[in-house]
Amino acid sequence: MIVVHTKQELDEQLLDWRRNGDHVALVATMGNLHQGHVSLVELAREHAERVVVSVFVNPTQFGEDEDFEDYPRTLEKDKRRLKAVAVDLIFAPHLETVYPFGLEDATTVSVPRITENFCGASRPGHFDGVTTVVARLFALVQPDIAVFGQKDYQQQLVIRHMSLDLNLPISIITAETVREDDGLAMSSRNQYLSAEERSIAPRLHEVLVKIGDQLQSGRRNFAELESESTEKLTAAGFDVDYLSIRRAQNLQLPDRDCDELVVLVAAQLGAARLIDNIVVTI
Ligand code: PAF
Repeated sequence: MIVVHTKQELDEQLLDWRRNGDHVALVATMGNLHQGHVSLVELAREHAERVVVSVFVNPTQFGEDEDFEDYPRTLEKDKRRLKAVAVDLIFAPHLETVYPFGLEDATTVSVPRITENFCGASRPGHFDGVTTVVARLFALVQPDIAVFGQKDYQQQLVIRHMSLDLNLPISIITAETVREDDGLAMSSRNQYLSAEERSIAPRLHEVLVKIGDQLQSGRRNFAELESESTEKLTAAGFDVDYLSIRRAQNLQLPDRDCDELVVLVAAQLGAARLIDNIVVTI
């Protein structure tokens, strides 16, 4: 496994692989890797001869009062984990490799509308930061395939939209959410939970599953279902940011006949902002 930090080192390796006709898959991460990231790598491996994992804590997707400074940076541990799953290359760029003109003069990539609600509303500027850095990583790595997790449901839709709209020659693949045994979606931010909060956290997934069951059995009063479920989570100790039933394809409001729904939730539990979702196909 090779670890590179600069564009030149990356280009040299990519050129070598391209000469061999190898396809390249990118798994973009901010490090602090867990089993969820490993599952993205495994899926990437099914689609390409070479797997690149980028590790870059991207400042432009954090709000001013968010956890950019405290975000865990664990490159040595990440390297060991990625070596064990035979990643070909870790790209851990310096800030100036990703943003050569600096943050003030950086070109921004922005996707309208689908970024306005949910995490986009609660975290202004977040998705501009995500699309800007993902576009830059795509330009640097020039992958054939890129794998993103379903846990960040809105993010993967936004990235798909960007890639299609800009005609980027990259297939976007979405990997299922990996969960702890009790259903909690794996996330780097779970480590902010106290022991007591950790015991409450799986309620988030339980509530989603119950909504899924009700939708499957024909319930269609979406607003009522949303407010009942929000109340349950609030009673359990969550500060619910949003809980919403939407069209899976585009996050628009569904009508009664919609047969592909997504239930999205974000809630604060202590210091951790947890997000999760389930897709319900009827
Ligand atoms: O999902 C993440 O970890 C980040 O948003 C991403 C896609 C690596 C961009 O920084």
